[in-house]
Amino acid sequence: MNDTFLKACRGEKTSYTPVWIMRQAGRYLPEYQKVRSKVDFLTLCKTPELAAEVSIQPVDILKVDAAILFSDILIPVEAMGMKLEFSEAKGPILYDPIRNDVAVSRLRSIKAVEDVPFVMDAVKLLVKKLNVPLIGFSGAPFTLATYMIEGGGSRNFTNTKRMMYQTPELFGALMDKITDTVIDYLQAQIDAGVDAVQIFDSWAGVLSPVDFEAYALKYVQRIVSALKGKAPVIYFALNGSAMLRLVRKAGADVFGVDWRIDMADAVNALGGDAAVQGNLDPCTLFGKKELIRERVKGVLHGAQGAKGHIFNLGHGILPETPVENAVALVEAVHELSSR
Ligand code: CP3
Repeated sequence: MNDTFLKACRGEKTSYTPVWIMRQAGRYLPEYQKVRSKVDFLTLCKTPELAAEVSIQPVDILKVDAAILFSDILIPVEAMGMKLEFSEAKGPILYDPIRNDVAVSRLRSIKAVEDVPFVMDAVKLLVKKLNVPLIGFSGAPFTLATYMIEGGGSRNFTNTKRMMYQTPELFGALMDKITDTVIDYLQAQIDAGVDAVQIFDSWAGVLSPVDFEAYALKYVQRIVSALKGKAPVIYFALNGSAMLRLVRKAGADVFGVDWRIDMADAVNALGGDAAVQGNLDPCTLFGKKELIRERVKGVLHGAQGAKGHIFNLGHGILPETPVENAVALVEAVHELSSR
């Protein structure tokens, strides 16, 4: 087993910088498209053999140092009782968005082993086959709440913020239910065999720092404390570069960093007691190989002061990305960081 990724999570010395890519199993890979052409996205998530197959594809093709379970952050939300659909044009849709106390009280906190058994089955298949660590994941409570309250993606998050400000007790009750679900969900993934977990807070960056602290942070802290010592936790607050001093209070082992900040500045803001993950602009992969190498060098250099570094993009790989450039990225990271 190549455990370079896990060593970096723990801040131990590694002989090179491990790398994986957010959304590494996905549409930019013809091999993924082939599987996906036969089934819809939710069926793919719910069929352990297929989910395992597409999770392994990037490990074989790109030679990344970790696999991430193929699923979606909205899978447990569906299990909480909301009707979920993925539309090609609009992305995820959640019907009957949560706007009042009746809707909140109807939601269930899930027991993942019973309610989404296919996730744990995919994990069990994967750990038998992989020669690299497996990352499990969940959405963060705030990010999941935005989807549940808005009914899908959003531009200004007015419904979410209105609930936060006008009925904070209701918003808190919703966040409590989601947090219980996330803890159970991540614990079940760890019990099934994942080696680390990532908490995706894709919409944390729409909050002002003061609201992030008041309405989002404590729930992430609760999740991190519940999992402490069980598996390394990566917390990724997208668009959070302007509030990294607050983000670090989440207490995670590793902090994901997007590309809007110089990695050296991020390391400085996060302090010396955590590892960092990131932070190449995903669009760099549309550049020439020399540019990719140059930018990889810059990120590696910027992360030198961190307790540990896991190389990644600053957000998910884009569907239009040439596969050969993703391969070149992984090669460049391995070669340029070799010590
Ligand atoms: O990283 C991986 O390779 C594992 C798989 C993974 C998916 N979604 C597969 C997916 C992970 C970790 C996610 C997390 C996820 N899902 C997030 C957090 C990460 C981020 O991007 O900020 C969010 C916000 C979602 C919700 C979601 N799922 C959206 C907004 C969309 C539509 C946009 C899009 O890219 O199509 C999805 C669909 C989705 N999730 C796809 C994949 C591969 C595309 C579905 C398809 O094959 O058509």
